[in-house]
Amino acid sequence: MTEAVLLVGGKGTRLQPLTLTTPKPMVPAAGVPFLAHQLARARDAGVRHVVLATSYLAEVFEPYFGDGSAHGLRLTYVTEDVPLGTGGAVRAAADALASGPADPVLVLNGDILSGLDLGGLLHRHERAGADVTLHLTRAEDPRAFGLVPTGPGGRVLAFTEKPRRPEEFVTDQVNAGVYVFRREVMDTIPAGRPVSLERETFPGLLAAGALLHGVVDTSYWLDLGRPASFVQASADLVRGVVRSPAVPGEPGEFLLLPGARVEAGARLGGGTVVGAGAHVAAGAEIEGSVVLDGARVGEGARIHASMVGRQARVGPRTVLHGAVIGDHAGVGADNELRDGARVWCGTTIPDAAIRFSAA
Ligand code: GTP
Repeated sequence: MTEAVLLVGGKGTRLQPLTLTTPKPMVPAAGVPFLAHQLARARDAGVRHVVLATSYLAEVFEPYFGDGSAHGLRLTYVTEDVPLGTGGAVRAAADALASGPADPVLVLNGDILSGLDLGGLLHRHERAGADVTLHLTRAEDPRAFGLVPTGPGGRVLAFTEKPRRPEEFVTDQVNAGVYVFRREVMDTIPAGRPVSLERETFPGLLAAGALLHGVVDTSYWLDLGRPASFVQASADLVRGVVRSPAVPGEPGEFLLLPGARVEAGARLGGGTVVGAGAHVAAGAEIEGSVVLDGARVGEGARIHASMVGRQARVGPRTVLHGAVIGDHAGVGADNELRDGARVWCGTTIPDAAIRFSAA
């Protein structure tokens, strides 16, 4: 039986204010909590038992996903009272696994959307006889990632987290946040204290002579840590650019959840989702955006690549471009918010108060 550990305990600070009340893996992408897509992909790869390593807002996962049977797998919840980092979380979750010492176990960051063939990664791990196998992708601008150069046969040579100096840019291969561990390797991670896989465990294993195997795969890959990439992922799921069996509908230019109301003359496109009970008034244009449950979009508003929180309100003729509106926030009429602007949950912006001129 193949097992997986999903890391879902991070605070998701870059996605605030939406993550103040909802942990990042529970923020809806293409109509369902993002985690539902990952569970569906794991199940399709043959995974039958998933351990969810929770910490931040841990209590919200189980009421939604239960024992996992509705998603075709068995779920176990392991909660760190204090966050133990990515490595500490793997160590804590390992105790809930049934795999034998030499069995492969998938470990997935909870905020990665990828088209990677997970079954293929398991196969490559077994063939290489590796201690840990890492999915690597190629980044045009690797500054925000961990660089992982590999030698002949895919052997990992080094780890450079968030490189700065020019001599550190030895490769464009970056850690994609999906791993296969030989089960017993997890037990070598120290228990009960914070540990970073990227900064401590992997460099430590390398120094100890372990075989870390890198598999470069450049199929679809997106790290949903930032709002711009989160809305992009949701839009790509809706349009079928990347497929997930958890999307509640056929691929198309937009997705309306049951109870969403869109008035005649409104235009939706680019993979936009309109949540349950949300209302979009006439003449509004929404492109490549996520409008969550119960939100209201006024007449003639124009929303592009933005997230509108639950029960939030966007006033008539207001323009949002790359903005995040928190749950229950209100943006009055005739405002213009661009380029990463965020409105905190529950805040109200009066009419015509903010106007960014396009550079
Ligand atoms: P930011 O605060 O915006 O950096 O987001 P994050 O908290 O999610 O951190 P990051 O993107 O580095 O985390 C990568 C993955 O590991 C995510 O799926 C997190 O949920 C998860 N994660 C990070 N830290 C912890 C932790 O201490 N415990 C657990 N269980 N998971 C964690």
